[in-house]
Amino acid sequence: MSEQRRIPQHVAIIMDGNGRWAELRGLERHQGHAAGVEPVRAALRAAARHGVQVLTLYAFSTENWGRPAPEVDALMELFCQCVVSEAPELVRQGVRVRMIGQRERFSEKVRTALEQIERQTAGGRTLTLVLALNYSSRSEITRAVQRIARRVADKEIRPEEICESTITENLDTAPYPDPDLIIRTSGEQRLSNFLLWQASYAEFWFPEVLWPDFTEETFDQAIEEYARRDRRFGLVTK
Ligand code: IPE
Ligand code: IPE
Ligand code: MG
Repeated sequence: MSEQRRIPQHVAIIMDGNGRWAELRGLERHQGHAAGVEPVRAALRAAARHGVQVLTLYAFSTENWGRPAPEVDALMELFCQCVVSEAPELVRQGVRVRMIGQRERFSEKVRTALEQIERQTAGGRTLTLVLALNYSSRSEITRAVQRIARRVADKEIRPEEICESTITENLDTAPYPDPDLIIRTSGEQRLSNFLLWQASYAEFWFPEVLWPDFTEETFDQAIEEYARRDRRFGLVTK
């Protein structure tokens, strides 16, 4: 692999373990989520330092709405607060913030906050931060199928013209390359409805660290681990 190929273009992180981190300290779960903000800053700094172009963070799944209301409310409040507190630094670092997932389900306040951060950071050219919010892969694929079916019904395309790229182009992630590396913290080894289509040839890394304890050094370790992997994409190594 050339030196450049050893750096993943797109890293996606399933930020897991906030609740357990809080419980271990006798704190409330929402305090674990609040402690998960600094590691987001650390991941961003490290990603920019390594020249990663896209960093996707799984912050809230469609299934997470089923959690107790106080926890969901605290997370919504945290998203709104972070938009305000982090904006200047994101702009300074040249980070462009985008989101994947369905924003319609969020309250007006959260939607406005998300639109605001996307607008404020639209000129960012260093790195794209993709926030997966009210995201699940099955919902994303279902919505893509609906869009494609509508185009078929409108006779814009014929069914036999549908190919893999038609699907890719109709996913929320259409503007971004597939993730090269997916990290899930807290030792859990599952995708939990995250980037199922896009992860076809991703490398996986599952550190034991709980998300609030994730640091720039953890990210560096992930990059080192990635560089050791032999990605064959179904071919044979030269
Ligand atoms: C991940 O941490 C953050 C979100 C899902 C929003 P968890 O809240 O899932 O933490 P654990 O898995 O219960 O420890
Ligand atoms: C996945 O974590 C979702 C996010 C990190 C936002 P969960 O903690 O919700 O997933 P499960 O329940 O362990 O599969
Ligand atoms: Mg969890």
